Parts: sequence; structure tokens; C-alpha cells
Amino acid sequence: SPTLKVGAAPLEKFTTVRHTLPMLSLNNAFDPEEVEAFDRRAREALGHSGIEYAAGPKFDGLAISLVYEAGLFVRGATRGDGYTGEEVTANLRTIRSIPLRLPAQRAVPSLLEVRGEVLMLRADFERLNQRQQVQGEKVFANPRNAAAGSLRQLDPRITAGRKLTFFAYDVSGSEEWAAPKKYSQLLDFIEENGFRLAQERAVVHGVAELLGYYGRIGAARADLAYDIDGVVYKVNSLAEQQQLGFVARAPRFAIAHKFPAEEATSVVLGIDVQVGRTGALTPVARLQPVFVGGVTVTNATLHNFDQVRTKDVHTGDTVVVRRAGDVIPEVVRVVLEKRPAQVERFEMPAICPVCQSRVERIESESAYRCTGGLYCPAQRKQALLHFASRRAMNIEGLG
Ligand code: IVH
Repeated sequence: SPTLKVGAAPLEKFTTVRHTLPMLSLNNAFDPEEVEAFDRRAREALGHSGIEYAAGPKFDGLAISLVYEAGLFVRGATRGDGYTGEEVTANLRTIRSIPLRLPAQRAVPSLLEVRGEVLMLRADFERLNQRQQVQGEKVFANPRNAAAGSLRQLDPRITAGRKLTFFAYDVSGSEEWAAPKKYSQLLDFIEENGFRLAQERAVVHGVAELLGYYGRIGAARADLAYDIDGVVYKVNSLAEQQQLGFVARAPRFAIAHKFPAEEATSVVLGIDVQVGRTGALTPVARLQPVFVGGVTVTNATLHNFDQVRTKDVHTGDTVVVRRAGDVIPEVVRVVLEKRPAQVERFEMPAICPVCQSRVERIESESAYRCTGGLYCPAQRKQALLHFASRRAMNIEGLG
């Protein structure tokens, strides 16, 4: 009932919750060889071939954990750093694809955790942006940003006005639960309990079928109702998953096979030089705005001076730009056929563009550095940001 779903008062701030089991990440594969290596390692560790895999799309949304006690939804949290996340229960209650009570309350374990991804369907994203535009509100760059912005609202009434969808991809239950033997059966179980799952999920055998699945989903990608950035393969037997275990923060029994980063062409309007925290100078291409990988890109890093020379980038050049996920956009290569007759060679400045201190060349690192230290406003600003950042002093407000 909608009266159960909305109505909580706005929060002051989110509280943090510790995940009972850490929310880990997946290792990535970018080409068939890496998938073959993944399958080979699994075959060698398990001592047999023709491994059964469960394959599914890799949703481009936000990872969420939902806790059910005696079949009732009691708590939901974001992934956070994998160990602790933010409690967003009131917001999650407004999402219709998240059941508030499970239909078979008796048949489910006393404690059940369902994990999955909250995202915004492409059609809902288009509708939201149209509405935002009409109302003179912020327009979102892509469905993922819209979903993240909608879930991180302290006032659940705002979240309720944004249509979000939850897709489940994992479940675990308390000890007394006679869990099924296969991952694909776990997914069937959550589907029977009212959760939405990717219709594209499949069970396949051996590496050839994994790659076939990747090809099929890649071909269907543009027609899906939501954004994905690859597919996920998991060893289907849960006993074998346990046997394979984890390395560092990622399972050995699963891998994400990513789609190649999206590319587009643009024109270099100029090459700027940015000064980092340690004074390192980074050349950055200022670009004619171009929509790629879900956002409008106006700058792309050229990393360092050597890259500018190796890639042979000049102001006025037409370039191929690439952006994947949250990665900084980069210049892949120059389209030489489109180079103007006259171009000027880029040189690193001899004095800092921000503080005019002398620039020194560090031969061993093929780097250039502003010698201004904390006299340089750019270095000072970056040093302050670094000091206050989450991974350093974790300061929430600084005046
Ligand atoms: S399984 C041990 N399945 O990808 C991690 N993850 O890189 C188990 N994701 O944080 C995750 N779609 O947010 C899994 N079908 C899918 C997924 C998926 C998207 C995300 C998830 C996770 C990240 C891992």
C-alpha cells in the first residue's frame, strides 16, 4: 500500500550501518583471453572441465543490501566502502520493486539478506529529465547519476517522486535455511518471493558459451530497458564457489566481463596545464563538448608531456575520446586525416601557469613540477582538499 511506502519525515543525515557480510567487488575482464584465464583457473582449482556458469547482465546502478526479518523488510543500505554503508531504508521503501513483506513469510529464513542494484529505467530517466527541465530543475547526465541522486535524498518524499527499480542478484539466509545448491536456484527463489531479476539471466557451460552469452547481450544492449556495462559470470555450484573462495576483495568464482568503453570524436580547442597537489603539471585537452559514456565531456587528460608527444596531439586536432564508467575521460588518438594545415607544437611552460614559480623537469619520472610548494595557490588548494578528504582527516566541512 502506498500509505505504508511513503510518509517518513526527512532525516537530518544518514546513519552508517556495518554490513553483516562485506559487499565485495568483482575482478574485471576486458577481452576473451582474460575470460579464458578465469575459466582455466577455475577448472584447475576444481579439477574438472565444462564448468557450469550462471551469467547475467552487469547493471550500471548502485549496489544495495536489503535485510528481511521474519519476511519483513527492516533495513536497507548502500554499499559504501564495502564494509559500512549508509542506511537508506525510508527511501528504499518507496521503490515498488522492493517487497515490504515476502509472500511466503513462513518459508523464508528468519533472517534474509537480498542484494542487488537500484537503477533508473531509461524510459523513467527520460520522463524525469523532461519534468526537471519544465520545472527549471537540475537535469541529470545519465540514468546512473539520476538514480544515485534520487536515492541519496534525506527526504523520502523526493525519492518517492522518482521512479527507481531494484534488480536482485544475490541472497543469503540465516543458518537454519536449507538453501538450494546452485546460484541459479537462489535467483529463482528470490524471483518467487516477488523480486525483479534480469530476464536475460542464463546458465551456460564452458568458456565458449560464456563468450557466446557476452556477444548476445552485447548485441541486445541498446534495446535493454536499462544501462549495463558488461556481463557477470559466476560458477553456478555454491559448493564450488566455496571451494574457490576469495582473493583480496574479490571472489575467485566470479568475474565481470566489461564492454569496451564508448568512444566519440571531438576537436581540441586548446591544451591547458593543470597543477596538482604535489606540483606535478598535467596537460589537459580542452574539447568541443561531446556526449560520450553517458556524460558531456569538455576536458580529457593527456596524462603527461610524453603522452602529448607520443599521441601527437595539437590544438585544432580532431581526436577520439574515450570514457568508461567513473573513469576520467582520455584522448585515445588523433585523427590525422583531419589535421589542419597549420598546427602549433605543444610545449610545457617554463613557469607555473598559476603562481609563476620556476618549473623543474624531473628526468627520472619524465614529469614537470611547479617549485612553488604551498606558495602556489593550486598546490595549496589541492593540499587542503587532500587533507580534508574522506581517506585522510575525513572532515565534513571546512571554512
Ligand atoms: S555480483 C562479490 N552481479 O558490480 C560481488 N554484481 O564489481 C558480487 N553489479 O558492487 C556482486 N550487476 O554493484 C553482481 N549481476 C550482477 C551485478 C553486479 C552489477 C555490481 C555490483 C557490485 C559490482 C562488483
